Amino acid sequence: MIVNRPKPMGPPMDRPYGPPPYDRTQEAIAFLAKYDQETKRVPRGRMHDVIRAIRDTGTYQQTVDELTMSAKMAWRNSTRCNGRRIWRGLVVNDCRHLTSAEGIFEACVDHIVKATNRGKLLPMISIFAQRQDGEPGIRIWNSQLIRFAGYPEGEGRVIGDPANVDLTKQAMELGWKGKGGSFDVLPLIIQMPNQEPKVFEIPEETVVLVPIVHPDLPWFEELGLKWHGLPAVADMALDGGGLTYTAAPFSGWYMDNEIGSRNFADTDRYNMMPIIAEKLGLDTKHDRTLWKDRVLLELNRAVNYSFRNAGVTMVDHHTVSGQFMKFLDQEEKLGRVPLAEWSWVVPPMSSASCPSYHRTYVNEEIRPNYYYQPPAWDTEEESSE
Ligand code: ARG
Repeated sequence: MIVNRPKPMGPPMDRPYGPPPYDRTQEAIAFLAKYDQETKRVPRGRMHDVIRAIRDTGTYQQTVDELTMSAKMAWRNSTRCNGRRIWRGLVVNDCRHLTSAEGIFEACVDHIVKATNRGKLLPMISIFAQRQDGEPGIRIWNSQLIRFAGYPEGEGRVIGDPANVDLTKQAMELGWKGKGGSFDVLPLIIQMPNQEPKVFEIPEETVVLVPIVHPDLPWFEELGLKWHGLPAVADMALDGGGLTYTAAPFSGWYMDNEIGSRNFADTDRYNMMPIIAEKLGLDTKHDRTLWKDRVLLELNRAVNYSFRNAGVTMVDHHTVSGQFMKFLDQEEKLGRVPLAEWSWVVPPMSSASCPSYHRTYVNEEIRPNYYYQPPAWDTEEESSE
C-alpha cells in the first residue's frame, strides 16, 4: 500500500520535553507527603531517610510501593488520556535491576506477552533504572514497543506507516533489513547510557496483529489492513518523586478512533479514506457529500468489529467517554481537581455525542507525570559533537 505524505502541519506536540527544573529534595518531599496523605502508607522515618540520602549521595531509590504509586499517579495526571478511570489497576513491573540492553529487551518482550494476556489486555508499565545525574538515561528508541516500518518511496510517498520513517531509517542504519511491506513490525532499538544502541527483533509469535474486516462489507478484508492489538508507548519518561525513569514503556488498550480515525485515516498516516471511498462508490469531488464521514464510520465499524472478532480488548469512543466522566466524578469526590486537555480527551469522531465534549477542563501539568523526550537519535548526535 502506498500512501502520500504531505508536509507536516506544524508541531502536533506543543509541550516541552520533560518537567521544569526542580529541586530533588523538594520534589521527593512533595511526593511522599501526597502519597502519605492519600494512602497513609509511608512508613515513619521514610521522609527523613530520603532527605538524608539525597543530601549525602545526591539521589535516592524509591521503594517498590513508591515506584508503583509514582507510575499510577503519573497516569492519573496524564491530561491527554481519557482512559484513566482505572488508574489504580495499573500493573507495575519493577525492572530497575536490569543493566544490559539484552535484559531490557527480554523485559520488553515479557511486557508485550503479559500485557497482551491472550487478548484480554492488562494496563501495564515496566520501569527500568532511573537516569543518573550528568548521564543520559536508558532509552528505547521506538515510540511504541510495536510499530510498523515506513519506507520512503520518493516524491513524498511512503510504504507502511509514515509516522515511523525516521525510526525505520535508524533501524536500517543499524543493520536491520526491512521486508518492504506495509505492516512490518520494527525491531526494538535499546540504548544503555553512553553505549551504542542495539537492535533486537521482536519474536513474531508474541505480537498480536488484528486483521481488519468489516461486519457487512466483504471487500474490506481485501484492503489488507491490520493493526497491532497492544498500544505500548515506549519513548516517554516517567518523572516522580524527583527521579526520572527515561525508559518506562506503558500500555493500555485501544480506543477505536485511534486506529479508525487517525492511524488509517490521517493524510500523513495510512491515508486510506480515498481508497475506501472509491470502494464504497462515493462521490469524493465535493466535501459536502460528507463522503469522509461515511468512510470514517465504516472504517471505525470495521476496526471495532475486527478487534471484537479477534478477542482483543478495545473500547469504543462513546463508552470511553462515559468512563472518563466517571473518572472526573471519582476524582472530584476525593477532593482532587481532575486535569485534562480537551482536544485530547474528546474523541475525534461524533465528538458532540460523547459526554466529555460538553464541559471544560483544568489543564495543568503536575507530577508525577509522563513526559515527551527528544528523539533518542537526536540526543545521540548532540552528545557526539
Ligand atoms: N494513539 C496511539 C496509537 O494509535 C496510541 C497511544 C496510546 N493509546 C492507548 N489507548 N493507550 O498507536
